[in-house]
Amino acid sequence: MQTVTVNLGERSYPIELGEGILSRVGEIMKARGINGRVGIVSNPPVAELYGDRVRESLEAAGYDTATVLIPEGEAHKNTASLGLIYDALVEHRFDRSATLIALGGGVIGDVTGFAAATFLRGIGYVQLPTTLLAQVDASVGGKTAVNHEHGKNLIGAFHQPRLVVIDLDTLRTLPRREYAAGMAEVIKYGIIEDAAFFVFLEQEMDALLRIDANAVEHAVATSCRIKARVVEQDERETDRRAILNFGHTIGHALEAFTGYERFLHGEAVAVGMIQAAALSAGQGLCSAAELRRIEALVRRADLPWRIPDDIALEDLIAGMALDKKSHAGKIKFVLCEGIGGTRFQWFSPEEIVRELASGL
Ligand SMILES: NC(=O)c1ccc[n+]([C@@H]2O[C@H](COP(=O)([O-])OP(=O)(O)OC[C@H]3O[C@@H](n4cnc5c(N)ncnc54)[C@H](O)[C@@H]3O)[C@@H](O)[C@H]2O)c1
Ligand SMILES: [Zn+2]
Repeated sequence: MQTVTVNLGERSYPIELGEGILSRVGEIMKARGINGRVGIVSNPPVAELYGDRVRESLEAAGYDTATVLIPEGEAHKNTASLGLIYDALVEHRFDRSATLIALGGGVIGDVTGFAAATFLRGIGYVQLPTTLLAQVDASVGGKTAVNHEHGKNLIGAFHQPRLVVIDLDTLRTLPRREYAAGMAEVIKYGIIEDAAFFVFLEQEMDALLRIDANAVEHAVATSCRIKARVVEQDERETDRRAILNFGHTIGHALEAFTGYERFLHGEAVAVGMIQAAALSAGQGLCSAAELRRIEALVRRADLPWRIPDDIALEDLIAGMALDKKSHAGKIKFVLCEGIGGTRFQWFSPEEIVRELASGL
């Protein structure tokens, strides 16, 4: 077991990682001085796999618990699910000393976090992330949100958890496709911040794909540490935190263009990272050899790596200028400087199409 600390002054919190530690959640929370009643939020398949283990551990540590299940899937990351949580909290007379626990992937984490941020103007929040994406990304940084029918994450708040407990064993029941999608964010951390970590991923990708315990622990802990370091410098994303969006501009465009049905988020990010690296190579910021290494690693992780033939680059890019992050018709891109560094650069849609069409 190891601990990664997210240092945010009085909002600092530890991320405890290890195999099988879900069954110790109760004692870990007690040791952190968390008291009061506990609401466990999950969805049916995850609760079926891990719910008893968590509840029994909490009850053995003396916690009074209630469980709320919300339907599975991104479509339920909405205000209706939020309503289910608020209803249960009111029904069980939860007060300000209470804590909500998110047991599941990023969807459960985001809804639960927003409920915790808003119920009684804010109660405690603990995350037990069970997908690779939630472990390496959503569990660090305190962004919480639900979707609106007109856009993803439109209703949200910053609310840091008091504790995150990552049980690496939960990855063994995760569908392969979800696991690979999470790996895209892991690769991203190497590209933007840590060349040595990128080399580790090149050397250990086979071990990671068979969920070798040591390799996975190192990859998850290092990813959390890198994201924590970035968030510590810019908690509210005024500037530097945006480097975490590497690969996400084209990734988001691909997700939106295909109606959020064809690509998982991490898969779209995988394609977007290669496009962003190609753009970087075109600007002379990274070498052709580095671009090839990025592409090779993405492909070895069982991730899609190119824009499908049936999608025209022009169509994809056209939607991006309308993105809320565009400014005077230009889009802010995160480029990589070699492997391990980043730089921001603004491009018009025409420039992106020209650059990418020439390079690939
Ligand atoms: N708050 C943040 O900083 C942040 C960061 C990244 C992503 N997100 C959000 O996270 C969401 C995506 O999260 P996700 O990729 O974890 O998807 P998800 O929460 O939808 O989980 C993916 C699927 O895996 C299932 N599942 C979860 N854990 C399992 C396990 N251990 N075994 C078997 N099945 C399991 C879930 O029921 C679901 O069907 C998006 O809504 C995104 O906006 C938030
Ligand atoms: Zn992402």
